[in-house]
Amino acid sequence: MGFAVAFCVLAITVPIFTLDNGLMRTPPMGWLAWERYRCDIDCQNDPKNCISEALFRDMADRLSEDGWRELGYVYINIDDCWASMDRDANGRLQADPKRFPSGIPHLAQYIHDRGLKLGIYGDMGTHTCGGYPGTTLDDITTDAQTFADWEVDMLKFDGCYSNAKEQEKGYPAMSKALNATGRPIAYSCSWPAYQGGLPPKVNYTQLGEICNLWRNYGDIQDSWSSVLTIADWFFNNQDILQPAAGPGRWNDPDMLVVGDFGLSMEQSRSQMALWAIMAAPLFMSNDLRTISSGARTILQNRVAIGINQDPMGVQGRRLLVEKSGIEVFWRPLSDKASALVFFSRRTDMPYRYLTSLAKLHYTHGTYQIYDVFAERELGPLKDSTDFVVSVNPTGVVMWYISAPADADQNSAHMGEKLRGPALHRKSDGILL
Ligand SMILES: *[C@@H]1O[C@H](CO)[C@@H](O)[C@H](O)[C@H]1NC(C)=O
Ligand SMILES: *[C@@H]1O[C@H](CO)[C@@H](O)[C@H](O)[C@H]1NC(C)=O
Repeated sequence: MGFAVAFCVLAITVPIFTLDNGLMRTPPMGWLAWERYRCDIDCQNDPKNCISEALFRDMADRLSEDGWRELGYVYINIDDCWASMDRDANGRLQADPKRFPSGIPHLAQYIHDRGLKLGIYGDMGTHTCGGYPGTTLDDITTDAQTFADWEVDMLKFDGCYSNAKEQEKGYPAMSKALNATGRPIAYSCSWPAYQGGLPPKVNYTQLGEICNLWRNYGDIQDSWSSVLTIADWFFNNQDILQPAAGPGRWNDPDMLVVGDFGLSMEQSRSQMALWAIMAAPLFMSNDLRTISSGARTILQNRVAIGINQDPMGVQGRRLLVEKSGIEVFWRPLSDKASALVFFSRRTDMPYRYLTSLAKLHYTHGTYQIYDVFAERELGPLKDSTDFVVSVNPTGVVMWYISAPADADQNSAHMGEKLRGPALHRKSDGILL
């Protein structure tokens, strides 16, 4: 109970000073090229996968035609290697003319016509990480205006080839410059990742005032060890990171690699569940033209998305690390609901984890439990009742937990809204 009280206080003290552009009141969702497509510029030999306007048009088609957009996946984001090696005669960035023959404004139009938003990439420094033209302090106003003129909706601002002093000036300056264009452009700052991600070098109060999201840590790779390393870093540092997040200001543990090659289905559910608990941006980096139905089902899970997108915007936390290799994560949600994730680090067999809601700091009451990935009701569960969840190696069990039946009546509808019409009620749950 002491625990629950502590969290209420946290929720209320989420800082009120937030970048005032009205954007990203819930974590952004969409698609970002980097992890899957990197700096593949070989359109001659690899036309389907090279960084080109055709790739972004293909993904825009898929987001708008395959049910992604309606679930909230609306950003189509270009990463590095889109630009020409030279600025134009007026000193403005320009797209590579061979790979983006129609130009970025035309691509923006194509994407907007489909009800989607376009993100672009820049770098605070002399060069981007891939060696393309960067944005030095002198270029910030020009580049912000160029992105606004092109009707871009989001900027990821990387930090290769600049030092700490330049970054300290450049990241706030770009925030101001974007604001001065008058166009609402969401602003993703890679700054903390270049400064180790932790105070005293990183000031999360300041980041929340100038950026909508920020990369705290290194790039994700298409492997389970990468996902695990990132998740561990974020939860090991949750006392610092968790209070930094809130509507309009998010920690970014980097892209979802669900649908690529490195994760099993269990591990894919684990990434989706932990990113939902972390209130992380959900940027997929995969091939939506060929994605498996298994990966699509995970990424399109309505309740997992609903948990990620909870309007209260309180980032969740790791509650428990058990000697058995089971870890338990928790996130408070609006309408007195919450989410729990039971995660197994084990590598042997499904582990039968015995606990109760009371042991997980839930207060007195009877709760409605919905199993997010099994997509079914598990029936009412009293706080004091012991139960067993069976958690597969490197997998999760994720629960959406409605407010206790004796809580405020008018708050009971959120679960219904999240579940949608297709789900049926059952109460043959897991209870012992
Ligand atoms: C710019 O900042 C002001 C003051 O913080 C805010 O009211 C305005 O909405 C911002 N405009 C844009 C386009 O972000
Ligand atoms: C962090 O930034 C905030 C807001 O810009 C500022 O008020 C505060 O003094 C900074 N903290 C430190 C330790 O520099």
